[in-house]
Amino acid sequence: MRSIDDQGYHFEEWLTPEQIAADVKQVGKQISRDYEGKEPLFVIVLNGAFVFAADLMRALDGLRCEQTFIRVSSYYGMATTGTLEFIVPLQQVVENRDVIIVEDIVDTGLTIHQLKAHLRGLGATSVRVASMLFKPNKLEYDDAKPDYIGHEVSDEFVIGYGLDFDGFNRNLDAIYKVKK
Ligand code: IMP
Repeated sequence: MRSIDDQGYHFEEWLTPEQIAADVKQVGKQISRDYEGKEPLFVIVLNGAFVFAADLMRALDGLRCEQTFIRVSSYYGMATTGTLEFIVPLQQVVENRDVIIVEDIVDTGLTIHQLKAHLRGLGATSVRVASMLFKPNKLEYDDAKPDYIGHEVSDEFVIGYGLDFDGFNRNLDAIYKVKK
């Protein structure tokens, strides 16, 4: 099993590239089926979701769709700061659009809770969420449970496949869990 050491923490491989690919394929299929005949707008949450989004977009079965990006931040190191900062605001009109937010991980749900309210306030017809990972035990906002989930994860901090630890490790091809 592969492992990584970073800033005094030890991480072990948890989801292999093959497992991730299978998860992404299944999410892509579900979305393509649910949005058949519609033209959804994917709102990709930077920075973390860029790797998942790139794979997910190519796993859609011929769905006609658009992509746009938003950048928010709520984390510093391994802890949440509790408030959401819009670092790169939305560049595209979402009014009367079926929006699918693409996230790397839903943890407390604060990010998604606030983003959903923001997009609804801008007049989106519908707002759903696709997240590579979901930490169900940590969820504090019921409306933030993703509609499409690659994999559920327990409470541990994870890195890789877009997920960072202080800005690093997003480029790892697998997802690694911190070990105590
Ligand atoms: P939430 O607002 O608490 O749901 O947190 C969402 C954001 O926190 C994600 O988009 C990630 O950027 C970050 N995050 C939460 N858990 C982890 C983790 O285990 N590893 C890396 N980033 C995480």
